Amino acid sequence: MSDLLTYTVNKQHDETRQGKALDLDLQPVGFANSRKFYIESYGCQMNFSDSEIVASILAGEGFSITTNLFDADLVLLNTCSIREKAEQTVRSRLRTINALKLQKPGMLIGVLGCMAERLKSKFLEEEKLVDIVVGPDAYRSLPQLLEEADGGQKGVNVLLSREETYADISPVRLDKTGITAFISIMRGCDNMCSFCVVPFTRGRERSRDPGSILAEAKDLFNKGYREVTLLGQNVDSYKWKREDNQQNKDAEVLMNFAQLLECVAKVDPLLRVRFSTSHPKDITDDVLHTMAKYENICNNIHLPVQSGNSACLDRMNRTYDREWYINRVDAIKRIIPGCGISSDIIAGFCGETEEEHQDTLSMMEYVQYDFSYMFYYSERPGTLAARKYEDDVSLDIKKRRLIEIVDAQYQLSLKSNLNDIGKTFTVLVEKTSKKSEDELCGRNSQNKVIIFPKENYKVGQYVNVIVESANKAMLKGKAVGLVNDYII
Ligand code: 5AD
Ligand code: SF4
Repeated sequence: MSDLLTYTVNKQHDETRQGKALDLDLQPVGFANSRKFYIESYGCQMNFSDSEIVASILAGEGFSITTNLFDADLVLLNTCSIREKAEQTVRSRLRTINALKLQKPGMLIGVLGCMAERLKSKFLEEEKLVDIVVGPDAYRSLPQLLEEADGGQKGVNVLLSREETYADISPVRLDKTGITAFISIMRGCDNMCSFCVVPFTRGRERSRDPGSILAEAKDLFNKGYREVTLLGQNVDSYKWKREDNQQNKDAEVLMNFAQLLECVAKVDPLLRVRFSTSHPKDITDDVLHTMAKYENICNNIHLPVQSGNSACLDRMNRTYDREWYINRVDAIKRIIPGCGISSDIIAGFCGETEEEHQDTLSMMEYVQYDFSYMFYYSERPGTLAARKYEDDVSLDIKKRRLIEIVDAQYQLSLKSNLNDIGKTFTVLVEKTSKKSEDELCGRNSQNKVIIFPKENYKVGQYVNVIVESANKAMLKGKAVGLVNDYII
């Protein structure tokens, strides 16, 4: 790796499921005299992970990274289309950057990711000052598109691929702590949830070669990382078949997700493994047993329910019903006692009645989610729901139902956290606390944030912490010693 890549970065992974920009604090350390790029990521973890691939491709072209927008020769926004609001945020950011470009005429502006894919060349017509538009499967063509843009042409590549996994590209870690990292294990999505734009913007599902995944995990561990999160829209349907036969439905599956998880867990007992997102229709008992078997696979499952009502789930085309979901939750609680469970919930989907909404609230109560991402339904052009159903729940009712869901989740999170007082957890220390230099911050296996006095403990260590107080967002405690035997 060249010295172009020797820099430190501050990225807030944990708050980024929806709509928050990547908070970069990059300090280039001794790079050659080269063009500089600036990148902001919006939306899901996959976008943050993709930005690391983009950074790697650009570094290969001699670009260095900057956190100073004014300093940049190339400004990239890696965008999200999941809800209308996410797109509005990007549009307004683009207007600000366009205004800046008036003072810096040579600057190029690029739009990457889901919005680029959804709007394609319409982007160039609508947003006159965008120079390049690149979809999620076309990042390898960035150098060529930049060349075209340098020559005064607009560069667009939004071709989706059935094969691209960027398996051979070593991501440039845009992460300051050097402790936690994402590893993308698959791309795209073959589910057709009726509300969701992702299958249209990220294309068909494809799995990444397990050899390259394991090599990446080992490399991260050797560089001092202590936690990896395996990423995919639906990790449970990970399937690796014979090299030349990935698209063949009937080809023998050489590795499924449970097996991949086990291989990553075996990289080193000191490497924690997380994964996201699980689909209720696909999560198997095999995955749960693998989680129970390896102490370094974290006890936390993000299992989006979306709605607690079977008829609504049917309209959402989630392909499971309330009973199926409850059965999966029961299996988690039986096989991995104490496992954290989190969810995504949508309020006010097409045709949602008051009774259906009540079923969502009662589902939350049944599962006792530790955490949820909650949204009201936002119709997305071209999706199944937009074509088939009327967006007939008024905005007032959507908002009211969302408030009820958020209130219910706050109560559940608080209850779950208060219940941890007096318990001791192993915490992987990730950073100094934002509020105080004298406190450290990390997470337990269940993905709860724990803050405790620093004493002589350090980032990257596993520390046992006894919980002394809690609120709905986090736990506070005191260290009771280093973990020496974090070994299975
Ligand atoms: N409106 C509201 N929320 C949505 N999500 C996906 N599409 C929409 C939409 N059209 C939510 C789902 C999904 C999460 C990533 O975003 O809950 O799991
Ligand atoms: Fe969208 Fe459903 Fe695929 Fe998730 S599983 S990305 S909600 S279509």
